[in-house]
Amino acid sequence: MTDRKQVTVRHVRARKGGEPLVMLTAYDAPTASIASEAGADIILVGDSVANVVLGHETTHAVDVDVMVHHTAAVARANPHSLIVGDLPWMSYHVTEAEAIRNAGRLIREGGAQAVKLEGGVKRIPMIRAILDAEIPVMGHLGLTPQSVLSMGYAVQGKAADQAKRLVEEAKVLDETGVFAIVLEGVPETVAKAVTDAVSVPTIGIGAGAGTDGQVLVWHDATGFHDGHYPKFARKFADLRSAAVEALTEYAAGVRDGSFPSEAETYRMSDEEREAFLSEEEPSTDYVPSSWV
Ligand code: KIV
Repeated sequence: MTDRKQVTVRHVRARKGGEPLVMLTAYDAPTASIASEAGADIILVGDSVANVVLGHETTHAVDVDVMVHHTAAVARANPHSLIVGDLPWMSYHVTEAEAIRNAGRLIREGGAQAVKLEGGVKRIPMIRAILDAEIPVMGHLGLTPQSVLSMGYAVQGKAADQAKRLVEEAKVLDETGVFAIVLEGVPETVAKAVTDAVSVPTIGIGAGAGTDGQVLVWHDATGFHDGHYPKFARKFADLRSAAVEALTEYAAGVRDGSFPSEAETYRMSDEEREAFLSEEEPSTDYVPSSWV
């Protein structure tokens, strides 16, 4: 345990232009506890849980129940980091009332302190509604994985007119009242222009070094999976190899009889052992304590 203070939305907002914000995804108690201990300012319980934990192709596979389940596991680790719950696909697209209710579930049942949702101008009514319910909202522009059917996973804002639109969308999100904006899969020049144009921190992923912070997926940053690692996702460790090595040793130990060892084994007292192994019949007045 450390005496680090709990990070709040106000702390995050105040970091605009200051020390870069560190955000990591996490999806359960152990990954959240590690992210917090490593000094993450923000833990995003991302809908990327669908891909990196649950083995789905796209984030469309997860609904609010799944996100609540994982957010609550993260919250039970009591991280110092601000917990942001990701609103999944179709949880904020239908009506404002549904968007508020689903955001409220991530807060009340999941223990999140803010929510994130993808998209720009067309999501403004939903963002406004959630903000009116006094739930802080983080925006997400650029490559938005929930738009895969219409956008694919292509880098956004490479053409000048698209880049200008992105800056305008970011300004509208800022004016509406989001407390931070994730910029995913955009050229560095565009991310820097957005960062200069808005009053709230920008947090980049595949957006270069000019943003107010960075976010990485836990399993990418630690090298925990054997899937595709995007160009921007530096592996700061190779935990998958370390885990395979450890479990291969475990398997060998089971097979050659060296596991479990004497020290890893429970023993009876000599007296109880002798009585247990003796030929004597057990006494007939024995009644299991749970029957009494
Ligand atoms: O779900 C997620 O992991 C995200 C990050 C990539 C920003 O939205």
